[in-house]
Amino acid sequence: MKIAVAGTGYVGLVTGTCLAKIGHTVFCVDKEASKIAQLRRGESPIYEPGLEAEIVEAKDAGRLHFTTDYAVAYRQAEVIMIGVATPENTDGSANLQALYQVCEQIAASITSPTLVVVKSTVPIGTNDRLAAYFDQLLGDSRKNWVEVASNPEFLSQGTALRDTLQAERIVIGTESQEAADILTEIYTPFDQPILKMNRRSAEMVKYASNDFLALKISFVNDIANLCEAVGADIDEVTSGMGADSRIGSRFLAPGIGYGGSCFPKDTKALHWLAEEAGYTLKTIRAAIDVNEKQRFKLMQAARKDIPLFAGKKIAVLGATFKPGTDDLREAPSIPNLQMLLNEGADVHVYDPVGLPNLENVFGSRLHYGESVASVLQGADACFIFTEWAAFKEMDLALFHTMREPRVYDGRNCFSVKAAEQAGLQYYSIGRARVGGAVFA
Ligand code: UDX
Repeated sequence: MKIAVAGTGYVGLVTGTCLAKIGHTVFCVDKEASKIAQLRRGESPIYEPGLEAEIVEAKDAGRLHFTTDYAVAYRQAEVIMIGVATPENTDGSANLQALYQVCEQIAASITSPTLVVVKSTVPIGTNDRLAAYFDQLLGDSRKNWVEVASNPEFLSQGTALRDTLQAERIVIGTESQEAADILTEIYTPFDQPILKMNRRSAEMVKYASNDFLALKISFVNDIANLCEAVGADIDEVTSGMGADSRIGSRFLAPGIGYGGSCFPKDTKALHWLAEEAGYTLKTIRAAIDVNEKQRFKLMQAARKDIPLFAGKKIAVLGATFKPGTDDLREAPSIPNLQMLLNEGADVHVYDPVGLPNLENVFGSRLHYGESVASVLQGADACFIFTEWAAFKEMDLALFHTMREPRVYDGRNCFSVKAAEQAGLQYYSIGRARVGGAVFA
């Protein structure tokens, strides 16, 4: 099938590439000419393991095309998928400007009836409103030319290809059998379970899934904090909880909170949407509140040991919101780095892939190290914000090159036993502290 995909961010680019991989002819559209030029050269504008190779393969096979000329792409397409960003407004609601703009471009371009599929995460009812907007834009002469369907995306950064090619489910929300049939035809080669429902339910599945996972993380962080207060160990607790298949062991890792482009935005958007509808989502409110406080757990612990950060050399390992990505959106590291700098600390950061993006945010205010060893040398304290494999596998003896081996680990990279054996002064989330409480 001939498919146009609007937007070459995570959702659009991964979707377009995977659809081309399974045999469709795909035109990826973006208004940013530099991005399209990069993609035409076979370079991925986003860091995503394996994606660039798949782009090159599909492009060389003649099935994946990149263009800024939306009119040509939309006119040729039998189906148009939209994967543009829906960022957060200052009040927490979703900003749908880019989505509406693409709809206007589609209405101005198509010359025959077309199925428009919304993959972007949008508030419940948006697809209905878009359908009405298309009717208005297309006028009486082209009435009912556009059918709108919801087809949310569940990919995670760092594992986006696997999440798409081996998805646990495809959710399609349609208001007509024809639209459901077209989407089924598109996805049948993936050989994945297809769940068909109405548009509003499909929109809700996306928010409810993301918000449930965010809530699960906030719940485990709440319990981890209590473990610290009452002398239980969160690793032991989650191993006991996760063994119950009704709970499941995934998304039970405690830490300094969830970040990224989805959970923070989608929890706030659903909460805002519920308030608008006259209903307060108390569970989601709690998930948001717990997460905001959780981000500062390491600083709170460190402050007991180091009352003043001014003039201290602080090593930071990891800046991205999770491993496997260079994305810093809503990363817990950011407000912490800000605080350390505001207090006059001399901050040295190492991250395997996130440093160029970090430099765009902080410029020359931070020192960017070339290795774990280079930032630890002579440091007064070390903060770990991301659980990169390189950190989890490092030789703990390296911490002894610091002035004091004080480690504040926001992602529980090492076992308490390993930290003890290595002679560290070690604070982690929801577990016993190693090496005494007050170091300064
Ligand atoms: C998420 C959803 O997983 C995905 O299905 C959706 O389509 C987009 O949002 P992503 O934001 O890429 O994907 O990352 P994810 O792996 O879910 O992690 C999000 C945040 O939660 C990260 O900051 C991560 O560190 C944190 N997290 C995750 C925890 O703190 N503990 C966990 O157990 C799991």
